[in-house]
Amino acid sequence: MTLTASASAPGKIILFGEHAVVYGQPAIAVPLTAVSARAVVQPGQIPGRVLIVAANLGRTLVVRPEPQDGEHALVIAVRLLLEELGLPVPGLQVTVHSTIPVASGLGSGAAVTTALLRAVAEAVGAPLDAERLNGLVYEVEKLYHGTPSGIDNTVIVYERPVFFVRGEPIETFTASGQIDVLVADTGISSPTRIAVGDVRELVKSQPVVYSPVLEHIGAITREAREAIARGDVAALGALAVENHRLLQQLTVSCEALDRLVHAAIQVGATGAKLSGGGRGGNMIAFVRRGDLARVRDALRQAGAVRVLHTTIQAGDHHAGICQTGRLADYR
Ligand code: PMV
Repeated sequence: MTLTASASAPGKIILFGEHAVVYGQPAIAVPLTAVSARAVVQPGQIPGRVLIVAANLGRTLVVRPEPQDGEHALVIAVRLLLEELGLPVPGLQVTVHSTIPVASGLGSGAAVTTALLRAVAEAVGAPLDAERLNGLVYEVEKLYHGTPSGIDNTVIVYERPVFFVRGEPIETFTASGQIDVLVADTGISSPTRIAVGDVRELVKSQPVVYSPVLEHIGAITREAREAIARGDVAALGALAVENHRLLQQLTVSCEALDRLVHAAIQVGATGAKLSGGGRGGNMIAFVRRGDLARVRDALRQAGAVRVLHTTIQAGDHHAGICQTGRLADYR
């Protein structure tokens, strides 16, 4: 046991299928390495206490040997890890820092938990394989989101693009050429749990209306997988527009997201949609290379607080296919 270690985890973006994925439809997501969470472990001053210095929250959380009422999700995360490993609470201090905006559809919660658990497991001399880590992060995601599909933890723990179907083995996907995606932040934080809960109410109260919407999103996602395989940016744009319209019907868009989607398309994006839980957070636009600067400027003018650029391209180390390319932050 070295009691020192560090680990990090990327953010993620959902390209297609959010919300419907909770109901068993497929979704497509990729890691977003321009933003990340990092955890650094040092030996602690107090035996039998893990201090979690959550830099972004401006708080220090304490994991004690006995569970307390109302513990923070990060405390519960460490407790679950130690239970899984069959270890008592060690004396550690973990500093956690994240550049991923919270509650904005980029997987902040799952990334912070992943970095934290990876670093603590390493420090106590019991590094976890991805499958076990993914299971633990999913348990913590439930505390944040209620009924998460598991897509966030899967993309973030495995750090690979996924074609994700709840409860099924992880599949990646193939890509042709290079597909450019801009990711723009409305600056509005919106807890996923609420949007997911509202959609659940809609589906429960009016299944005849909303089940076909979910199925339609699933069909779009399957078509998008083929369009990515062909490198067909025009088709992806059209599918994004259709997916966004269906997300509007599920009431998870908002004025700021619609404004950014519209602004991107007006200046040449092939299509755009909200990404993640919605009601704020981020949107994505599919853009031809020559139009990137223009679309980025239009997004800024329409109120985006940050625009990131990422690419999906063929030929990387993960299962032959991956998102590659450093992500340029156009902030
Ligand atoms: O807002 P995010 O990044 O947590 O994405 C949530 C994706 C949903 O499909 C809305 C919920 C889920 O658990 O899959």
